[in-house]
Amino acid sequence: MEKYVLVTGAAKRIGSVISQQLAAEGWSVLIHYNSSDKDALKLAAQLKEAYPRQEFPTMQCDLSSTKEVLNLFQNTPVKNMKLRALINNASIFTPGSITDITPDFLAEQMGVNFEAPLFLMQTFKKHFGQGSIINMLDTNVIKNIETHAAYLLAKKSLDAITKMAALAWAPAIRVNGIAPGPVLPPPNQDQKHLEKVIANTPLKRQVGTDDIVQTVSFLLNNPSITGQIIFCDSGAHLK
Ligand SMILES: NC(=O)c1ccc[n+]([C@@H]2O[C@H](COP(=O)([O-])OP(=O)(O)OC[C@H]3O[C@@H](n4cnc5c(N)ncnc54)[C@H](OP(=O)(O)O)[C@@H]3O)[C@@H](O)[C@H]2O)c1
Repeated sequence: MEKYVLVTGAAKRIGSVISQQLAAEGWSVLIHYNSSDKDALKLAAQLKEAYPRQEFPTMQCDLSSTKEVLNLFQNTPVKNMKLRALINNASIFTPGSITDITPDFLAEQMGVNFEAPLFLMQTFKKHFGQGSIINMLDTNVIKNIETHAAYLLAKKSLDAITKMAALAWAPAIRVNGIAPGPVLPPPNQDQKHLEKVIANTPLKRQVGTDDIVQTVSFLLNNPSITGQIIFCDSGAHLK
C-alpha cells in the first residue's frame, strides 16, 4: 500500500521543497494548494516523472474555511487513501500590530495559521489513527515581536497545541514542530528584505530550504521524538 503524506501549501516555496524531498524518500505526496493550481499540477507532473511508482495527487482546499478543512480527508482525490503523515506548512504572513488587529483580520490569521492545522491534526487522528504530524512554526514563537501580532499569536498557539497533542495522542501519533528562521523573503518581497534579518542571526546565515527539509526527514524518521520544537533558524531564537 502507498505511504502517503499530506503537505499543505505544497505548490511553491518551502512546501514544494519538502514535497520533493519526501518523494525522493519514497513517499507518495498529497499536494495541497489553495490558489497555485498551475504550480501544484506542474510539481505533481515532475514528481510523477521522477518517481513513477509513487502517487502525487493534488487537492485544492481553502484553509480559511473551517467547513472545507473539516471535510478535507473525506474528499481526498484517491479512494481509501491511507495517510501516514501530515505536514502543516501552509500559512499567511500579514503585518499588523496589536493596535491594528480587527476581528476579521484576527479570524483570518488564526484561521489559516492555527485553526486549520489544529482541525487537520484532529481529523487526521480520527481518520487514520496513527502516524506523524509536523507543524511549521516560526523562530519568533518564543518572542513578543508585534509587527505581525496576529500571525505570531496563531503560531504561538500552534506551538502550544503541538506539545498538548503530542502528549494526548501518544503513543499512536507523534507531533513535532519546526521553527524556521529566515529562509525565503515573504512572497512579493525581495532578498534585500531578508538581509537585515540574516545579519542579525548568530550564525549570520540564511536558512537553506535543504536545512528545513532535513529536519522534516529527521522528525519523520525518528520514532523516539515527540512534542519537540526544533529551531532551524541560524540561532535566531537565542537573541
Ligand atoms: N519563509 C520563511 O523564511 C519562513 C520563516 C519562518 C517560518 N516560516 C513558516 O514556514 C512555512 C512555509 O513558509 P513559506 O514562506 O514557504 O510559506 P508561504 O509561501 O507564505 O505560504 C505557503 C502556502 O500557504 C498557502 N496558503 C495561504 N493561505 C491559504 C489558504 N487560505 N488556504 C490554503 N492554503 C493557503 C499558499 O498556497 P497557494 O499558493 O496555493 O495559495 C502558499 O503557497 C510557513 O508555515 C511559514 O510560517 C517560513
